[in-house]
Amino acid sequence: MSNLGQNGAAGAAALSGAASIGKAASVSVMEAIRTRRSIGRVKPDPVDKAVIEQLLEVAAWAPSHHNTQPWKFIVMTGEGRNRLGEGYANVAVALEPGLEGEQLEERRRKERTKAFRAPVVIAAVCSPSDDPRAVPAEELAAAQAAVQNLLLAAHAHGLGAIWRSGEPMFHPRMKETFGLRADEDIVGFIYLGYPDMTPPEPRRVPAAEKTVWLTE
Ligand SMILES: Cc1cc2nc3c(=O)[nH]c(=O)nc-3n(C[C@H](O)[C@H](O)[C@H](O)COP(=O)(O)O)c2cc1C
Repeated sequence: MSNLGQNGAAGAAALSGAASIGKAASVSVMEAIRTRRSIGRVKPDPVDKAVIEQLLEVAAWAPSHHNTQPWKFIVMTGEGRNRLGEGYANVAVALEPGLEGEQLEERRRKERTKAFRAPVVIAAVCSPSDDPRAVPAEELAAAQAAVQNLLLAAHAHGLGAIWRSGEPMFHPRMKETFGLRADEDIVGFIYLGYPDMTPPEPRRVPAAEKTVWLTE
């Protein structure tokens, strides 16, 4: 069940327990968007594979120009998170080539632990279509929209999630660690689990301050 209750303000927009999201939620889209927060601290408790699959199914309903669907997900759980740990370690060593011996090993150990901050980590990848009409910036936008879908679906499930990036995500050694093609890019590491914190509500600049209306 959702952690958000049954009836949001925008009832008309309710995700009414439709087949596509099963029993996950009956929460308004408006409410889910408004109340989603980045949750950086989660419990180590595992998340059911079926739930993760549901989140990915919803993520894959993001829009994409020409319906190219340029996303790919690499789901890491348990020891599978070592792949990301290796990625962090490989990048750190590449950035600090002077490290040797025990110092080097200590650094690699420390970097590897980062991948274990949540029971599930999903690497979201933009894998551009070979459709000649595909525009790289739009392929990226679509993959990023899929990530937002994933975050909202996780929230509707009562899961905590955070979209992490940082310098290592963009480093060629990270891409290499995941065996990605040259034209593929990681757009986010989504750390996922049951919340172990009450997230602060970051300030938002009112949309009105970022909006220009052209009416004539
Ligand atoms: C592309 C992208 C990358 C992000 N990378 C990080 C990150 O590396 N570390 C982090 O703590 N938060 C990261 N965030 C989360 C933002 O810090 C967060 O969305 C922002 O502070 C607003 O908070 P909210 O998500 O709770 O509304 C990222 C968000 C986006 C969209």
